[in-house]
Parts: sequence; C-alpha cells; structure tokens
Amino acid sequence: MGSFISSSILLLFLLFPTIIQHAKPAMSLPLSTNSRWIVDEEGRRVKLACVNWVSHLEPVVAEGLSKQPMDMIAKRIVTMGFNCVRFTWPLFLITNDSLASITVRQSFQRLGLLESIAGIQSNNPSIIDVSLIKAYQAVVSSLGKNDVMVILDNHLSKPGWCCSNFDGNGFFGDQYFNPDLWITGLTRMATLFNGVTHVVGMSLRNELRGPKQNVNDWYRYMQKGAEAVHSANPDVLVILSGLSYDSDLSFIQNRPVQLSFSGKLVFEVHWYGFSDGQAWVTGNPNQVCGRVAKDMMRRSGFLVDQGYPLFVSEYGVDQRGTNVNDNRYLNCFLGVAAELDLDWALWTLVGSYYLREGVIGLNEYYGVLNYNWCETRNSSFIERISALQSPFRGPGLSETKLHKVIFHPSTGLCVIRKSFLDPLCLGPCADSESWSYSSDKTLVVKGTYFCLQADESGTLVKLGIFCSDSNSKWEMIADSKMHLSSKLRNGKSICLDVDSSNAIVTNSCKCISKDNTCDPASQWFKLVDSTRSRSEERSFLHFDSIFDLPGKGFLSNLMVGSI
Ligand SMILES: *[C@@H]1O[C@H](CO)[C@@H](O)[C@H](O)[C@H]1NC(C)=O
Ligand SMILES: *[C@@H]1O[C@H](CO)[C@@H](O)[C@H](O)[C@H]1NC(C)=O
Repeated sequence: MGSFISSSILLLFLLFPTIIQHAKPAMSLPLSTNSRWIVDEEGRRVKLACVNWVSHLEPVVAEGLSKQPMDMIAKRIVTMGFNCVRFTWPLFLITNDSLASITVRQSFQRLGLLESIAGIQSNNPSIIDVSLIKAYQAVVSSLGKNDVMVILDNHLSKPGWCCSNFDGNGFFGDQYFNPDLWITGLTRMATLFNGVTHVVGMSLRNELRGPKQNVNDWYRYMQKGAEAVHSANPDVLVILSGLSYDSDLSFIQNRPVQLSFSGKLVFEVHWYGFSDGQAWVTGNPNQVCGRVAKDMMRRSGFLVDQGYPLFVSEYGVDQRGTNVNDNRYLNCFLGVAAELDLDWALWTLVGSYYLREGVIGLNEYYGVLNYNWCETRNSSFIERISALQSPFRGPGLSETKLHKVIFHPSTGLCVIRKSFLDPLCLGPCADSESWSYSSDKTLVVKGTYFCLQADESGTLVKLGIFCSDSNSKWEMIADSKMHLSSKLRNGKSICLDVDSSNAIVTNSCKCISKDNTCDPASQWFKLVDSTRSRSEERSFLHFDSIFDLPGKGFLSNLMVGSI
C-alpha cells in the first residue's frame, strides 16, 4: 500500500512537474489569532515570512522603483519564498496633506534626485505623476496581485532614516510624535485599506524609544491606537511594538493589554547582532548565545507561552558574510526562531536607497536584493532562511504526529537520510527524518527501533538498534544548549558535527571554554518540534535522485522510499 501510494504520487509529479512549482498554500483572509498562532479563516496557521520594504525615507516612495518595475519586485519576493511584506510609512504621509498630495516626480525634484526620476519614468512610468499616497497604494496593490500579504508599518513620523533616541520620533510627546495626530493617521490609514483583503496587519509604531519612554504612556496610547485601528478596520491584525527599540515587552507579563476586541493582537520584537553591541565578537559564542537568548525569552519570548503571537518584525545581517558579529548572532537567532517557530520579517528587501542619511544611492548590505534590485545579493542566505519560511507546526497543519527535526542553523538544513541505507547527512528540512527525543536522551527515528549512535571521534554517526549505551544518549550542552553531546564507551565526550561534504559526524566539542576566537557553528543544532509531513517532499527527493543517479533503477528508488 505504502509503495503503491508513493509510486503514484511520484508518477504524478513526473508527469506534471510544474504543478509542484505553482502549488500555493491556499489561505483565506482575513487573519486572526488563536492563542500564540496567526491563523486564516479556516483556522489554519499562516506563518508570516515577511521582508521589510522601506517607504519612509525623505522621498516617501517605496525604494527600488527607479531600478525595477514593481511587479517584477513583487514576483521576486515570491520566488525568494516570502509570503508577506512589512511595508513602512511615515505618519506625515497621511497627516500632512501637502506631503500626501505632492507627486512622485515633485518629491524627487525637491530633493534633487533627478536620476531617480529618470529611473522611475522608465521602470514605473504609471506612478511618476501620481501623488505619494497613490504611489504607496499602487505598490500595495501590486503586492496583492502577486498574492503577497502586506503589513503596514508606521515606521516614524517625519520622513527620514530611523532611529535614534533624539530624532524627535521616538516616543509619545516627542517633537514629531503627537499622540493625537498619530491616532488620526492610524485611523486614516486603516480606513484607506479597509476592504483591501491582502493588507493583513498594521504595525502601530516602530521601535518606541528615547528619554520619554515609560510603561504607563505605552499602555495609554498603544491601547488607544489599537482601538482606533480596529474600529476603522476590524480585519487587520493589530501589532504592538515594545520599548527600547522594540526589544522589551517584559512589562506585559504582569499587566496584559486591555482591549475591547479579541483575536487580533500580535506583539512585535526586533533582534539584531548589534542589539548587543560587539558582544558576539568579543565573547565566546556559546556564552553569548546562552545569555542573549535567555534575555530575549525574558523580554519578549515568554509571550508565546502566554498565548500571544510574537512577530520578529526585524532581524538581519550583513549579507556579504564578512561581519563576524552578525554571523555569530545569526546562527543563534535562527536556532531560537526555529525552535519557537516564530513569525518574522527580515530586514530588508532593499538593495539600495534613493537617498539615505545624505548618501545618494546607498548600497544596503543587509538587503536581500543587490544594488540594482535585479538579483538576490546572496543566494546562500536565502537558502539558509528557507527552512523558516514554512511553519513547523500550528493549528490545522498536523499532517503527522508531533516529532523533532534536528535543525542546523549555520546551513539552514536538517539531519536527513537520502535513503534507508545512506549515511545521515544534512538536507532540506522538508525531507527531515522524524525523531523522538525522550527522557532517556535517545534520538530515535520514529516508527523504528533505530537510534542515533556515536562512533569514534571524526567518524560518521550511525543508526543502531542497541540504544541503552552511553553513545546513544545525547544531551544539549554548553551555555547555548546547542551542542548535541554524547559519551563514547571509553568515556570521552564528543559532539555532533558536520563535515565538508555535509555528512553527520562526531568531533570533540568546540568552544565550550571561554575562548572567543573559535566558532562552534558547525556543531550548533536545535531539536525543533514539528508536525510537518515529508511524504510529498520525499517524492521530490526521488525525482531529483533519478537524475543524479541514472544507474539506479526507477523501481528500486520507489522501494527504498517506501520503507
Ligand atoms: C508638510 O509637508 C510639506 C511638504 O513636504 C512640508 O514642507 C511641511 O513642513 C510639512 N508640514 C508639517 C507640519 O510637517
Ligand atoms: C554569502 O554569504 C556567505 C555566508 O555568510 C559568504 O560566505 C559568502 O561570501 C557570501 N557571498 C556573497 C556573494 O556575498
């Protein structure tokens, strides 16, 4: 039966390979919340896998439109695997009528950005002479046509680069941050997009901060803002940022937000490498990851346990891979984001800015698109985050029973077996084995007697059936709790590792001491709860392997797959 089913699925895929590429997860909007999950109308989890698209700098035009047609950019967003855009806007776009009504051309003219005008004229001629607010709406509509969800993010008040403690945009009562004007702006924006189905949420205000910030005003105004948005547009998720640049929501623990409505509240948090200065380079990565992740749980991560969705609405790294602080942080971040299966928005889509902080055409090394917005800046980065673009678990998705996958953040891959007889290696998480990890510390392939077993240091890890020895017990060790460690029969401790061909091996445990010069990333793993089924993906795998290994018979592939 099993092999019959998998062979018919395989045949289907062989005959209609294009079906796979175009299959889109059906979701019915609007979204709402069910405990810590964001769900669609049918109650199925929708994981926000967004990218930030900037439209809040001085020109108040979505970046990149001088480089590529907006429809091309939207399509590129989809092919990179994102399902949503966090689209920024400055408050004055909607509260200052003379700003809202100047045209795109006039906006660039007043800034002397003539090259951008020429670029928009050739790539997006339809918006060059429309008002700034119409241009913003045009981008939202282009995203909708491409089935990309949109979250409107009120990034600041006065157009320009964000954020500093003293820029007048940081907290209620600051020079440019009049709470009443803000409520007016939120109401107008929510009204303007009422009925635009793919606008699924509103981030009420980005990165609250500065000398005026305090918890009482946070509740006073954020609750007011939330009510205003909800009454103007009851369909959108209402997304609230914390204090201290959206790093701190710890106060919610003892004092819930009081709202007249339910099922729409989401919290957002930001987490970068530089949030902790240079700690990642100057410290030992295991210790820093342990400390910073614990801090994150205390300041925002606890919210998922309290039954609120937590949206990491900004994270990101220098994609050239040359910033050691960023690189080390990302390995830790991806581990936490996978383990908690968080919703997120990457900073940023932007390949380059029209004008940022006085620099014309600034190259954005944190951007997934390159300078000309025509290609991805670093395809290996996209591959790395792709495991986090689909949900591991959540309501309406349980295709299989809850199990663990062994996720490897530094590659974005999971521990898999290509076929039953092949050694364990890293591969797409969609093809992951289902593991169980029980109190006896064994890692067993679910539905079998096979457990993960360490051999000599430096050799391949095997699957064995005698699972009571110490070399079949695996503990998550070090401050980071990201090393999977076992003891050989001779008493030596070793750690799970990955060799240059992506095979799973054991080696002596790295960077457990205070050393700050070493990088343990190849040995960092997370055991992630998952209910993802892999059957469909298995067929993919075999589809590929037929071409990789033309000598292998078609049928024998099927047989192996059905074990
Ligand atoms: C409104 O926008 C215009 C055009 O950018 C600007 O000159 C003016 O100072 C703005 N007014 C306020 C109150 O921000
Ligand atoms: C992409 O990122 C990887 C990993 O950080 C890095 O090694 C590589 O050099 C980057 N490639 C480009 C083209 O920047």
